[in-house]
Amino acid sequence: MASISVVFLVLSIAFVCGMAQPKQDSSISSSASLTYPGSWPSPSNRFAFGFYQQGSGFAVGIWLVSQDNRTVVWTANRNGPLVTSNAVVHFNRDGKLVLQTEQGQEQFIAGSAKESVSYAAMLDSGNFVLYDTDNKPQWQSFENPTDTILGGQTLYTGRQLSSSLNKSDHSTGQFDLRMQTDGNLVLYPVTSEDTPLDAYWSSDTYWDVCRFKLYFDFNGSLILINESAGTTVHTLYSNFYGGINPNNNNNTIYRATLDFDGIFRLYSHTYYENGNYNVSILWSALSSSCMVNGFCGFNSFCTQDNNQSDCRCLPGHDFVDPNRRTLGCERNFSRAGCRGAKENATFYYISTMENMTWGAISYFSAEMSMEECSSSCLEDCNCGAALFKQNYCQKQQFPLNYVRRDTAGGYMAFFKVGHTALLNPSPMITSKAEMAQIVLEIIGFTVLSCVALAIFGRFIFKMRVLRYKRLLHNGKLGLPEEVTLRLFTYNELKRVTKGFKEELGKGSFGAVYKGALGKGKKLVAVKRLEKLVEEGEREFRAEMRAIGRTHHKNLVRLLGFCTEDSKRLLVYEYMSNGSLADLLFGVILRPHWTERLRIALDVARGILYLHEECEAPIIHCDIKPKNILMDDCWNAKISDFGLAKFLMPDQTRTFTGARGTRGYVAPEWHKNIPISVKADVYSYGVVLLEIVCCRKNIDVNASAAEEIVLSSWAYKCFAARDLYKLVIGEEVDMMSLEKMVKVGLWCIQEEPALRPSMKCVVLMLEGITEVPVPPCPTTPSM
Ligand SMILES: *[C@@H]1O[C@H](CO)[C@@H](O)[C@H](O)[C@H]1NC(C)=O
Ligand SMILES: *[C@@H]1O[C@H](CO)[C@@H](O)[C@H](O)[C@H]1NC(C)=O
Ligand SMILES: *[C@@H]1O[C@H](CO)[C@@H](O)[C@H](O)[C@H]1NC(C)=O
Ligand SMILES: *[C@@H]1O[C@H](CO)[C@@H](O)[C@H](O)[C@H]1NC(C)=O
Ligand SMILES: *[C@@H]1O[C@H](CO)[C@@H](O)[C@H](O)[C@H]1NC(C)=O
Ligand SMILES: *[C@@H]1O[C@H](CO)[C@@H](O)[C@H](O)[C@H]1NC(C)=O
Ligand SMILES: *[C@@H]1O[C@H](CO)[C@@H](O)[C@H](O)[C@H]1NC(C)=O
Ligand SMILES: *[C@@H]1O[C@H](CO)[C@@H](O)[C@H](O)[C@H]1NC(C)=O
Ligand SMILES: *[C@@H]1O[C@H](CO)[C@@H](O)[C@H](O)[C@H]1NC(C)=O
Ligand SMILES: *[C@@H]1O[C@H](CO)[C@@H](O)[C@H](O)[C@H]1NC(C)=O
Repeated sequence: MASISVVFLVLSIAFVCGMAQPKQDSSISSSASLTYPGSWPSPSNRFAFGFYQQGSGFAVGIWLVSQDNRTVVWTANRNGPLVTSNAVVHFNRDGKLVLQTEQGQEQFIAGSAKESVSYAAMLDSGNFVLYDTDNKPQWQSFENPTDTILGGQTLYTGRQLSSSLNKSDHSTGQFDLRMQTDGNLVLYPVTSEDTPLDAYWSSDTYWDVCRFKLYFDFNGSLILINESAGTTVHTLYSNFYGGINPNNNNNTIYRATLDFDGIFRLYSHTYYENGNYNVSILWSALSSSCMVNGFCGFNSFCTQDNNQSDCRCLPGHDFVDPNRRTLGCERNFSRAGCRGAKENATFYYISTMENMTWGAISYFSAEMSMEECSSSCLEDCNCGAALFKQNYCQKQQFPLNYVRRDTAGGYMAFFKVGHTALLNPSPMITSKAEMAQIVLEIIGFTVLSCVALAIFGRFIFKMRVLRYKRLLHNGKLGLPEEVTLRLFTYNELKRVTKGFKEELGKGSFGAVYKGALGKGKKLVAVKRLEKLVEEGEREFRAEMRAIGRTHHKNLVRLLGFCTEDSKRLLVYEYMSNGSLADLLFGVILRPHWTERLRIALDVARGILYLHEECEAPIIHCDIKPKNILMDDCWNAKISDFGLAKFLMPDQTRTFTGARGTRGYVAPEWHKNIPISVKADVYSYGVVLLEIVCCRKNIDVNASAAEEIVLSSWAYKCFAARDLYKLVIGEEVDMMSLEKMVKVGLWCIQEEPALRPSMKCVVLMLEGITEVPVPPCPTTPSM
């Protein structure tokens, strides 16, 4: 292994040296300096390094020489201030190339930290190189790309191109092309958190090996190369038709640029005898700007008319700046009439649009008719819009992002619009006290609406039997959430967690740490797996992919993972409100009965999804309140699913040593019976009784001996018609209490076959099917 990489290293150095060897006469000595309008051209005069005009100022960069010199392929210090025509480029005393402004300030352009530079060269490839006294390249523009790569240039693993602001301003714009460490080449909007939902194009090469680089060869082919083997793994564009090299007489320059509109395009510049060229686009990653996430701003949608992409406002919105339509839109009506969770419908109407799609995950999704969907949004204070997709109503809050009209793969959308115009567009906040009051009001409203949402959600769930089936499946525009599960390096995660500083807890798989992604904007939980079964890298990745494909609002979402040597780490969304165990057994006030009913149903739905609705059934094997986490809105989400197999030798065989957690494991773990989904049903039953009683299944401090084990005590109370004893001191709806206890007792039947399926559990809890009287859990009737 080591010898292979040494050979590779030698090869790659030889390659770089070969590429960067200057012609003797073209070298620029370290005493040279440059002022506008001078330039340092390449020997063939196709590229030049120097000052170019941008707006009323000047920048330093490399351009393709032509009639207008408008094609800039590299810019020094692209976000730095522009300079006047009196600025000078020269080598300073440390041997670095700097730009000295009229006022005498120095801006770094190029150079190496270690070696002082002896001369420079502008090569015919478009590469500007600084050399040391041994003729070794110390710095190359090819290794520091901005928005463009040229023939012969490589975009290495972990590097990126960033688009320019617009055609004439080459400072950093809105989009990134990343050569990710997982081997995938992906386009994202700059302002996003680089989640799979934000990605709008990828090379789909994220599987087998993590270190790929993008190589643009001299003849205009764009390929992904396996860094360790040097082999081509994927060809994005091949410029050889019938084996003929179209660039035989060296009259074409190839350029691949992440354009300011977010599309990665491959251009050819074919030169005429007179030194001018004509340009053609050989390939582009996307055919329309409308497919670019973030091309149109918030609350606007992209539409394609006569091959022109245009941004328009969603109903009830006006452009933030009518002259810059891509900036997005803002609401132009007042919101009023919200009482509790229910909207006063007289203030609003629904505006309908066909063929729409958008990128956000809805807060609510259920099967219903189109008319129900429309009125359900109208009446729901939280709903701003709803997408009616394959008989599912997906409700959404504003602001909406990545919205487009797509005649090939869109759906019916409903937008709630107010009748009253916005009177006070931006009320001035005058004092700190007022500010504090507003913040308080917002917090109060958020909490209220979370609760309201939950109650209203339950109401809808009751009307219809839920069938979550790949709700997020997007038609034509591909499955954004499946584009990538992000692969992290260990060092990245070390940084994300500040060196594994803040431990959130310790689970059966190892410790969990708090971290932050995207410049600290997005909190994550990083789980470091320990005590694993020896697991091949490939198997591990396959498992992670399976987990990554699960999407349910009651499952904690896996965002990415790391597998390096024997290290295995998982990155999950961060759950701000702790675990169900904290909520039930903590010292604070016990949650209200209706809240507990909702949580019980949340958990049941999550397990149902794992058992029956995701691609391959997943047995959790360790359902317990500690593994059920609460998000910002107090939705219960199951964590640690899909990991059980890493701790067990073989899922198909029976198990010897018991797994799971004492008090929650099904009796079959201790017997010679194969484990099935019914083991999870047992654990759920225990959790359900714990939710009912807000106490642990086994409580050695219980006031009477018969109360120590909750599951047997609950049956005693049920049989004696003394259910109130379970919830003493609480105001509880007795009907729902009896229902919950009966379902719990069915779930904890010793005989697995007697336990209901999770589907049945959900139907019983929702009140859709009756709950029969359960037998005593410990005396199997068979
Ligand atoms: C374009 O750049 C070349 C090389 O610096 C220069 O000789 C030429 O005058 C420039 N042309 C225009 C129109 O600026
Ligand atoms: C490019 O952006 C700059 C800065 O926002 C602006 O001044 C200029 O007018 C824009 N140019 C074009 C062609 O849009
Ligand atoms: C690409 O071009 C280079 C030089 O122009 C040539 O040596 C090489 O053979 C070409 N590659 C292929 C695959 O034809
Ligand atoms: C990449 O190269 C490595 C090392 O030679 C090899 O193990 C791996 O299978 C290659 N992957 C692909 C996709 O070619
Ligand atoms: C094209 O350029 C390559 C490298 O610069 C050179 O080796 C080759 O001889 C050139 N071919 C022609 C036909 O000029
Ligand atoms: C100009 O471009 C066209 C394709 O757009 C191509 O067919 C033509 O050969 C080019 N002209 C020259 C001189 O290469
Ligand atoms: C629109 O673009 C497509 C492909 O880019 C092209 O085939 C079609 O002719 C264009 N239509 C119009 C009206 O320009
Ligand atoms: C809705 O608002 C109107 C006008 O303010 C009012 O007359 C009506 O009673 C309200 N309806 C409900 C159900 O609150
Ligand atoms: C929606 O798309 C269909 C084709 O899929 C088209 O016939 C219809 O006119 C479109 N509606 C709108 C409003 O664009
Ligand atoms: C709000 O904007 C819509 C366009 O989306 C427009 O039709 C409507 O008249 C505007 N309403 C007000 C009150 O300005």
